[in-house]
Amino acid sequence: MYLLLCKTIFLLLLCITFSDAESQDPLGEFCNKETNISIGGKVSSNINNLLSELVLKTPSTGFLATTFGKEKDQVYGLAQCRGDVSTQDCSICIEDAAKQIRQRCPNQADARIWYDFCFLRYNNKTFASQVDTSFGIFYYNVENVTDPKTFNNKLGSLMDEIRAEAVVPKQEGLGKGKTKLSPFVTLYALVQCTRDLSEISCAQCLAISVSNFPTFCNNRKGCRVLYSSCYVRYELYPFFFPLDSDNAGASKKTMRAVVHP
Ligand SMILES: *[C@@H]1O[C@H](CO)[C@@H](O)[C@H](O)[C@H]1NC(C)=O
Ligand SMILES: *[C@@H]1O[C@H](CO)[C@@H](O)[C@H](O)[C@H]1NC(C)=O
Ligand SMILES: *[C@@H]1O[C@H](CO)[C@@H](O)[C@H](O)[C@H]1NC(C)=O
Repeated sequence: MYLLLCKTIFLLLLCITFSDAESQDPLGEFCNKETNISIGGKVSSNINNLLSELVLKTPSTGFLATTFGKEKDQVYGLAQCRGDVSTQDCSICIEDAAKQIRQRCPNQADARIWYDFCFLRYNNKTFASQVDTSFGIFYYNVENVTDPKTFNNKLGSLMDEIRAEAVVPKQEGLGKGKTKLSPFVTLYALVQCTRDLSEISCAQCLAISVSNFPTFCNNRKGCRVLYSSCYVRYELYPFFFPLDSDNAGASKKTMRAVVHP
């Protein structure tokens, strides 16, 4: 009996240790197949150095755009955490992102990876302050709202409000808020631009995201738009920090759509 228990405990510990060491799956990645490079070449080793710096320096402020190497082998990188996540969550996310992006895009100079808590990209071409909505990933709830007219009105106003918030300079591209749809149902939404964007570019990226709602998010109970320059999400359950208590038991089942350039 005692032995069995020990074994059970041992197995449990083993499992915990294993799952701890494994990095999280991303929401998606983009490996630009037009930018193939050789593994072990100069660009590739510059990417590794760039990633080390991003992992080390991003969490303290939640954002870093940097570069590594010289001339034709120079690479540019950007990493950013969602503005509401803790330094610790940010750090874990960027570490996972750096690990996974090299596994998923081992021989591309232009690669990007998305998580809910962070985003990371690099390229051998500079991309800073340019709005990029060429590649997009959409996650939408499988369920539809029952009263689209009221829902879309409330969603529209909340989006307007938080988009306006996101372009206020001290907000660093982040806007979030909630609105009650009924005494029991609350709509939560968050938008965020990468911090290299100007206010006008940020507004542009968010406008493009919202203009895609009818295609991918139409009447859906939740939706996420993931671009290289901005992140937009709404849900009928709390998802941003500080986290509200979740008592509604709203559906969290999603489907994914990917749009290529
Ligand atoms: C780049 O490499 C991938 C395999 O990793 C290959 O499928 C693709 O065709 C290559 N692209 C070009 C432009 O050679
Ligand atoms: C980036 O890398 C690709 C693939 O090796 C190459 O064709 C392109 O010229 C490079 N671009 C720059 C700006 O170095
Ligand atoms: C939600 O609406 C879409 C069309 O707008 C439909 O294809 C889908 O089946 C609906 N989902 C459910 C769960 O009814």
